[in-house]
Amino acid sequence: MEAVTVVAHPLVQHKLTLMRDKKRSTKGFRQLLNEIGMLLAYEVTRDLPLELVETETPLTTMMAPTIAGKKLVFAPILRAGVGMLDGMLSLVPSARVAHIGLYRDPETLTAVEYYFKAPSDVAERLVVVIDPMLATANSAVAAIDRLKDRGARDIRFVCLLAAPEGIQRLTSAHPDVRIWTAAIDTHLNDHGYIVPGLGDAGDRMYGTR
Ligand code: PRP
Ligand code: URA
Repeated sequence: MEAVTVVAHPLVQHKLTLMRDKKRSTKGFRQLLNEIGMLLAYEVTRDLPLELVETETPLTTMMAPTIAGKKLVFAPILRAGVGMLDGMLSLVPSARVAHIGLYRDPETLTAVEYYFKAPSDVAERLVVVIDPMLATANSAVAAIDRLKDRGARDIRFVCLLAAPEGIQRLTSAHPDVRIWTAAIDTHLNDHGYIVPGLGDAGDRMYGTR
């Protein structure tokens, strides 16, 4: 089982390129993030177990596959993770949602928590943490630490762009957490931004700054 899966699907790659373009409008950026969220949900759920249930079609009775096993929780890291949530929920409408409010201190790049709310049965569920950007991984590690404190044991991480430094940090801090990303860029700059990257995902999505 791979620790990191790069989702090379042409639709994902095409949409990511459109998002990197600095001229992309707020509206366009938000729509693309939502669409990629849906495509990444498809990939991160690819290996969910199935079980056969008896089903009556208009013609006969058959044993047909349905998803078995743990129910899902999507856990977006605020703010930018919310941009991928609706796309993911459109594929798994019954999933629960945990919200993890974190921002990066611009000087220290450490993650500062300002909100946390998760379903009470998070320990029994498969938790998919969502954040478009995995840079230093301070935010991802803090979010997963917090979820594990609440009992979560089965956790996956989905992002749009990852820096090699972030992958290294996340896989050493949480070796049990597999990562799905649309691309791995070359490096972080001195301000902790992913290069070539796409800039500040939250600001581009909400038109702030
Ligand atoms: C961004 C991004 C991640 C974090 C990644 O959030 O959405 O959460 O930075 O960086 P890291 O891997 O170095 O922790 P930011 O703190 O800018 O907050 P925002 O989403 O509210 O804009
Ligand atoms: N957060 C972002 O939004 N972009 C980066 O490049 C790094 C962290």
